This record gives sequence, C-alpha cells and structure tokens, in this order.
Amino acid sequence: MVKTNRNLYKWSCNNKAAVCLGVLCLCFFITTVVLSTKPCGEGKIQLKPDMWKHTALRSELVRAKKKFRLPKNVVPENYNLTLWPQLASNNFTGLVKIHVKVVKPTKDIYIHAAPSLRINSFILKDGLKTIEKSTNIAPNESEVLSINVKHQLTQGKYTITLDFSGALNGLVGFYTSKLKNGRTMVASKFEPTYARQAFPCFDEPEFKATFDIALVKPKGYTALSNMNEISSVHDSKTNTDVVSFARSVPMSTYLACFVLCEFDFKETEINTNGIGDPFTLRSYARKGETQKIDFAQSIGQRATEFYIKYYEVPFPLPKLDMIAIPEYQSGATEHWGLITYRETSFLIDDATASTQNRISVANTIVHELAHMWFGNLVTMKWWDDLWLNEGFATYMQVKALDAIEPSWTMLDQFLTKTMHSVLVSDAKLASHAIVQTVETPDEITAIFDAISYNKGSSVLRMLEGFVGEENFRRGVSDYLKRYKYGNTVTQDLLASLEPYFKKDHPDLNLTLIMDTWTRQTGYPVLAVTPGDAHTLVVSQARFLLDRSATYNTRDNQFQYRWFVPITYKTNQGTSKRIVWFPNEESNVTITLSPGDTWCKLNNNQVGYYRVSYTEEMWGQLIQQLKGKSEQLTLSDRAHLINDVFALATAEYVSYEVAMNLTTYLTVEEDYVPWDTADTEFVKLASRLENSLGGEGLRKYVQHLITPLYKKQSWDQTDIPVIQKLLRVRILSLAARFELPQAQSKVRELFLSWLDSRGTAGAKDMEPDLRSIVYFYGMKSASQAEWDKVWQLFLEERDPQEQQKLRHALSAPANTNILRKYLTLAWDQNNVRTSDYLIVVQYIANNPSGRALIWDEIRAKWPEYVKRFSLNSRYLGNLIPGISSTFDTEVKLQEMESFFSQYPEAGAGEAARRRALETLRGNIRWRETHEPTVTQWLNDYLTNL
Ligand SMILES: *[C@@H]1O[C@H](CO)[C@@H](O)[C@H](O)[C@H]1NC(C)=O
Ligand SMILES: *[C@@H]1O[C@H](CO)[C@@H](O)[C@H](O)[C@H]1NC(C)=O
Ligand SMILES: *[C@@H]1O[C@H](CO)[C@@H](O)[C@H](O)[C@H]1NC(C)=O
Ligand SMILES: *[C@@H]1O[C@H](CO)[C@@H](O)[C@H](O)[C@H]1NC(C)=O
Ligand SMILES: *[C@@H]1O[C@H](CO)[C@@H](O)[C@H](O)[C@H]1NC(C)=O
Ligand SMILES: [Zn+2]
Repeated sequence: MVKTNRNLYKWSCNNKAAVCLGVLCLCFFITTVVLSTKPCGEGKIQLKPDMWKHTALRSELVRAKKKFRLPKNVVPENYNLTLWPQLASNNFTGLVKIHVKVVKPTKDIYIHAAPSLRINSFILKDGLKTIEKSTNIAPNESEVLSINVKHQLTQGKYTITLDFSGALNGLVGFYTSKLKNGRTMVASKFEPTYARQAFPCFDEPEFKATFDIALVKPKGYTALSNMNEISSVHDSKTNTDVVSFARSVPMSTYLACFVLCEFDFKETEINTNGIGDPFTLRSYARKGETQKIDFAQSIGQRATEFYIKYYEVPFPLPKLDMIAIPEYQSGATEHWGLITYRETSFLIDDATASTQNRISVANTIVHELAHMWFGNLVTMKWWDDLWLNEGFATYMQVKALDAIEPSWTMLDQFLTKTMHSVLVSDAKLASHAIVQTVETPDEITAIFDAISYNKGSSVLRMLEGFVGEENFRRGVSDYLKRYKYGNTVTQDLLASLEPYFKKDHPDLNLTLIMDTWTRQTGYPVLAVTPGDAHTLVVSQARFLLDRSATYNTRDNQFQYRWFVPITYKTNQGTSKRIVWFPNEESNVTITLSPGDTWCKLNNNQVGYYRVSYTEEMWGQLIQQLKGKSEQLTLSDRAHLINDVFALATAEYVSYEVAMNLTTYLTVEEDYVPWDTADTEFVKLASRLENSLGGEGLRKYVQHLITPLYKKQSWDQTDIPVIQKLLRVRILSLAARFELPQAQSKVRELFLSWLDSRGTAGAKDMEPDLRSIVYFYGMKSASQAEWDKVWQLFLEERDPQEQQKLRHALSAPANTNILRKYLTLAWDQNNVRTSDYLIVVQYIANNPSGRALIWDEIRAKWPEYVKRFSLNSRYLGNLIPGISSTFDTEVKLQEMESFFSQYPEAGAGEAARRRALETLRGNIRWRETHEPTVTQWLNDYLTNL
C-alpha cells in the first residue's frame, strides 16, 4: 500500500494525499452487551452492526488483545465466493463456501467476520454429510465468528458454507463511491484487516488460499477482480450478469479485490523477454478521463518489464489491471492483479499536471508494482514484519524509476522524499523499532507509518550499499523463488542475502548487523574527533533530538548500540574501504592517508546515522562547500545541511555552525540540496514566526536565493525535469519568503488568471506554476476572490487541479474566510470524506487558521470519531499534524487535558505520544536556540 505523505509545505507531496474511514454508526445501546473473556469470544455475543466502535467496549478489547488472532488448527484452502452488490439499497449479499483443512483435531472453528456482517446461515459439511448448521450465529466484538461443533473434528477436509449480507458503506471493506455524474461504483479496500467486512474469512496474511470469485453486476457495468473473467451469464429475472473469474493463485485475504464500474480502459502488451508468458496491462478510469491514463500506462508498462528482469521471476497472474477510484482512502493498494489508486495518484492531464504530480504518480505506480512480487507472491507471516513489504516497495520506487527515468535522479531525491523526514521522527522516544509486535486492528493499521516505509527503505538502502547492487538483486531473486506463494519473516530475507554478503565479508554476521537496525528503536550519531598521528576516533551514541531525554538503555538486547558500516571521503577522494563499527566496541579508528586535509563520513548519506564533527572540522567542511569541492556530491551536500540542523537542535554543535553552513547556498545550484534547505528554512520560519528573528530570516533567505532566482523564468521554458524541480523550488521559496519581485509577480499572475477564467481569451497557466500562483496569490485574497475560487473548485473535474485549488483555498490570512472554508468543507457534497482531513491540515498550516482548527478539533472530537472512526490512522495522525508548531506551556496543558478528556486514542495512540514529545521539543527549542539564531541573523545582515 502507499501511505499518505503530507509534506504540506510543498505541494510536491511525494506520494498521494490522505485520509479516512467511512461513516460508521456509533451505537449507544451498549449496556446490553456482555463481554466474553474466553478466547475468540465463543460467538455468544450478539452485537448490532458497528456497536463495537463504541469506545468503552474498545478499551475492554484492547486489554484482551490476544482474542484477535485465530488458532492455526483449521486452515482455509479455497474460497468459492459470490458477491452481489445492490446499488439501489447500498447493501450486498454474499455466499461463500470455504474449503478448509483441519490439521489438528478441534471442536471449534474460528473465522473473521466484522460485526457489520449479518450471517444468515452456515453449514459445516464433511463431504456430503452435514455436521452442523445454524441460522443463528453472529460475529463477536473482536470480529470473530465462532462455530462450536458437538463432536470433535478429526484431521481432514471440510467445507463451511456461509450466507451473509452487509452494507456498502465506509471507505474500507466493500463500499460504494458516488461519481460526479450521479452514478455509483463499487470498490473494495481490504488491507490490512477489512476483508472481514466483505465476507467471512481467515483474515490473516499467513492463511493463503485460492479464490474462485463471482460478482453479480447490473447490465452495463464492468466487473473486475484479481483474475481474468472466464464466464458471464445473464439472468433476465433480475437483469443482472453473473461474472465468474478464473481460480486465483494462493493469496492472502487482504489482496482480494472487487470492483463494479462503468469505466473505460486502455491496454498494452507486456513484453516479458521470455520470463513467463506475455500478458496485458490495462488501466481504467472514469468515462471521459481516459486521456489521463496514458502516463500511468507508460510508467506501468516499463516498470513491470523492469521488475520481471530485476526479480527474474515471471509475473504470477494472467493479467494486470490498474484503476483510479474517485473516493479512496489511501494513496493506492497493491491488490493482486487489480491495483486500486486514488485519482490524484494515477491520473495525469498533460495540460494541467505539474512535474511534481507526474513524479508522484510514477512513484505510487512503481511502488504498487513492486508489491506484485515482493508482498503478494511472498508475504510477511504477520504484520510485525510489515516493513519487509513496505520498506522494500518504497526502496524499489527509486530503483525502478532510476532505471526507467534516469533523468529524474530519484536516487538523490530519496534523501528528501524519504529519509530526512524519518530521521526526525525516529529521533524521538515515541518512535518504535522496525520489527514491532502488533495484535489489534488499531495497532496493525498504525504501523503503516514512517518507520515501516521510510526507515525500512533507508535501512535496505544501507544494506544494499554494503552488500553491493548485484548481490542484493540476486539475494532478493533467490528469496522470491524460494518462498513463492509462502510467508516469511525478516530473517528469511537476510538468509537469502547472506551467501552473497559472506563472499566479501566472511567474518561478519549479517543477521547481527541488521538486527541492530531493525530490532531496536532509533539510530546512532557518530562523534568524530581527531586522534593521534593522523587518525580519527569515532564513537557512537543514540541520537535523540532531546539530548537530555532519559530512557532505560537495557530495555533491548543491543542497548542502543549499532553495528555501523562507516564510509568516508577526503579531499583525495572516496575511500573504497568500509570501516565496520561493531555495536560492542566503544570506538573505532580511521587512519587517514598522507595529504588528507579534511574528512566527511557517510558517503551520499547511505548509512542510516548522523555524524557529528568538532567545530574545527565543520569549519573545514563549510570551506569545501563554499569552494564547490568536487568531492562533495549533491547528496553529500544535502546530507551536511540535514545533519547540521538536527545536531544543532540536539545541542551537539552550536546553531551558529548550522547557520554558518547555510551561507554556502549562494553558490548552490542543485535541486536536492535546495530541497533540503527549503525544509529547514520553512521549519525555522515557523519556529520564529512570532519573534524578531522571523523578519531576519525572511531577509536572509531572500539574500541566499537571489542569485539563483535571477536565473529562473516565470515564463514557460523547455528545461530538463530536474531543472524544472529546481525552478519551482526556488520560485516557491521566493514567494514563501516574500521576495518583493516574486510577490508582485505572483499576485499579478493570480489576478489575471482569476479575471480571465471562463472568458474567451482565457490563457491557461503553466502547470508547474499553478500551485505557487494559486496558493501565494490567495494569501491576500478578499472574500469575493475566495468565493470565486471556491466556485472554480466546485466546478473543477480534474483531481490534480482540485487538489491545487483545495490547497489555495486555505491560504488567506483572514481567519473568517478560513472559518467559512472549514464549515463548507465538512459537507461531503463539497469535499469528499477522503479529502476532508487534508483540508483540516492545510488550514492548520496557516498561522491564521491554527487556533481555529485546534478549537474545532477539541469541540467536535466525538463527531470526528463518528465520521472517521478511531481505527483510522489518518484521524490519529491529524493530532501531531495540526499541533506540529505548538511551542508553549499553555498548548501543552491544553493538549494533555484534551487527551485525558478522550483517553481512547484507537490507532492514534503512538501519534499522541509523538505530538506531546514534539511540543515539549518546540518549547525547549524556543528557550535554548531562538536567541542564538536571532542574534546570528542580526549580525549577518548587519555585515552584508
Ligand atoms: C462455486 O460455487 C457455485 C455454487 O455456489 C458452483 O456453481 C461453482 O461451480 C463453484 N465453483 C467452483 C470453481 O467450484
Ligand atoms: C441493508 O442492510 C441493513 C443491515 O444489514 C438492513 O437493516 C437494511 O434493511 C438493508 N436495506 C435494504 C434496502 O435491504
Ligand atoms: C549471528 O547473529 C545472530 C543474532 O545475533 C545469532 O543468533 C547467530 O547465532 C549469529 N550467527 C553466527 C554464525 O554467529
Ligand atoms: C577507545 O576505546 C578504547 C578501548 O575500549 C579505550 O581504551 C579508549 O580510551 C577509547 N578512546 C576514546 C577516544 O574514547
Ligand atoms: C561562523 O562564521 C563566522 C564568519 O566566517 C566566523 O567568524 C565564526 O567563527 C563562525 N562560527 C562558528 C561557531 O564556527
Ligand atoms: Zn506498499
């Protein structure tokens, strides 16, 4: 799955946009419910649909975590499933015959089913003989259906037939989505624990089975599922078609997918180069939007061909479909053979989409395609090892795009798109280890987070760095071949890589090395000091943004020490050697060569650690940056900017050094270092927002960007992709930091766009400038201008353009306008439920909207819970999102009292801890660093 990434200061949004669970009814007749403490609840509890969402009941459940797992004595082999969605009533009925194998004698069979499913009947058979039947059985509050058999079942095969019905609501499970033309479509989204909302099943990744799926559809609709259609039979009585699909390969329930739609498609043949049979790739979109799928088709085709070559494993299915769904919670989901996408993660209109839109769509597509093998063919045993799936797919994004679109330089962009942000969240006590124990649906959905995706991929990149690219590829290929159609744990991947690693490192233990990175929270900072006789002595410590934070170092087996691969370069070039720093050593020594005058560790920031130097060594590095040293690659430069700010915040080095380092930017001309600097300056600006330093920073950034700003044009130019990205970054920094000539240009472009919209002579604005012009043009907008843009938004049909307008609508400095926006957005006729929380975050990013949102969330929290559910990680992540700039004791108290008023956090529990830690860190920053930075800015500007 592609998680939502909201880098909201930049509309770059690497991947996708956000959001949420559907409308689930909160039921207050809870007193009649008796809670069972027996494993799996025994099926005696009768619950009204969705009753379990009630928070009091949830806390009972959380205390009895284990009830969520199914025993392994009964395993499914095949599902014969027919689903009949009834669009008129928004309900569906279904019939499933599950062929199971009893591997250990038992009297109980447990099957997942959400309480929202009504079970009309079940029959358990041994061959033709009925053993047990009932019309009175219901799922319990931990989403389990239990079948108690009078006589013990012996080993052997049985069938369980269940007749059931449910509602097509929400944004997960099986649901309908209303289109702008008034028509309805049906879609499903099961990852991680929502297949049980559509049909009773063994809803854990390890229970792989084959599926024979049939969908009943109204005439005129297309039915799609994981496999190819094999028959379609018309029933004139109900005027429906029963569409049957070929039997699937063995797969996990979360990968099943069902769609009914009236969409159009385009198709291409995939050239497998002899690795498996050729097959067809199809992309589906709403009627009339198919001109927007050419880009996705092209990326999809080339990436699929790349993966077949890379993995050396045939694509396991006879066809592959991709589809854009208007109402969609996450960015995309890797349903096998039928990948579903949010529209903004898939559709590209050449006339309106920006370069960033294209790169972000491409990233999402190659991510999902990587899963077709890694994740789908070989799947983690349990969600504890989710990082295997997500970290890997996230890393393959850059490898695949680097192969098919080399000019985008995605390997360098990995730093700013993926790694830098997680180095911040992983430097908090509230972080967690990559391999993490999870049991409940809330805990499972919550680990679809930066640690699994971003840290997971960063650690794999480091692993590839010391194993070697080709060795890594071979190990992965062996792993897929060895475990195909099976399930694995982290160790299985390492065991496949081990022989290749051993060739070059016979004395090292790969499992031990990687365990130090995946089984403990956080990462190290290496401190480098000059030693005797031309050496450097390197020591390590856990890096925390709060250097004074206390924790128990004995709470994990490695005691917060890592097995670190150290790479380095000097003025004489890059050292070929890796210096290993074992977790058990207190320090290691690097011996420099004669003639080495300076040294930088961690080439291209491939290692997942930071490096702290003495002030003198920093001074040397800054000199190299200013002198445009050829030794320092653009990734090295981005790394130094990224490290020095984190180290300054954590008080490893003075903020003066960090600010001194940024002075080199007057000679910097590459995108990735500027993108890194942009993040730091925007963060700094919000820290200095209400202080004297704010004005100084504005002047300082204007000064830094001026040389490069002068080289950019506001007129359309034909330049390489990476230059386009640089241009947009510089122009938006200029607008953000109010460079006068940029400000007036933006307002002028905005007004002429707004005036001419809808008139005959209307000139379309260049796609790459739209985000900047709409957003910054709206900053000083009047209510009348805002109303006009709001109308344009309501009429807009293109999802990327809608997204840009939604963002622009949050820009005005006038709080009354923002209040109106918030009210209008709550209505799902204006803003889709899956986009609403993004709007909330946008408004919170605006200093004029921050208090408004904080009041709204606290006042309306129960309504938010009702609309999005506590199981929504998007709702959980809203709290750290909207409070990320809070920096006062008052806010801290408000937040603490908010949490104590609503103690149930659901999937947002870790998010709350992160929010509190960030807030305390912000207070500390203001007290510790604000005077230094303000003074530095003053001095610098005075001497200019
Ligand atoms: C699935 O069940 C239906 C009846 O419910 C039956 O007609 C069909 O043949 C079964 N499919 C397979 C592949 O067994
Ligand atoms: C839809 O299902 C719900 C719950 O299962 C039921 O109460 C309702 O009557 C059904 N609606 C229709 C139109 O069948
Ligand atoms: C490698 O390290 C792992 C984890 O510490 C350990 O279990 C294993 O025994 C080690 N293998 C060898 C050959 O030392
Ligand atoms: C490095 O480690 C050695 C051996 O543990 C120790 O004797 C020495 O003092 C350490 N040096 C520094 C600079 O920490
Ligand atoms: C920062 O740079 C200034 C000017 O080059 C220099 O005088 C000062 O010592 C530097 N500060 C630190 C802490 O390195
Ligand atoms: Zn994924």
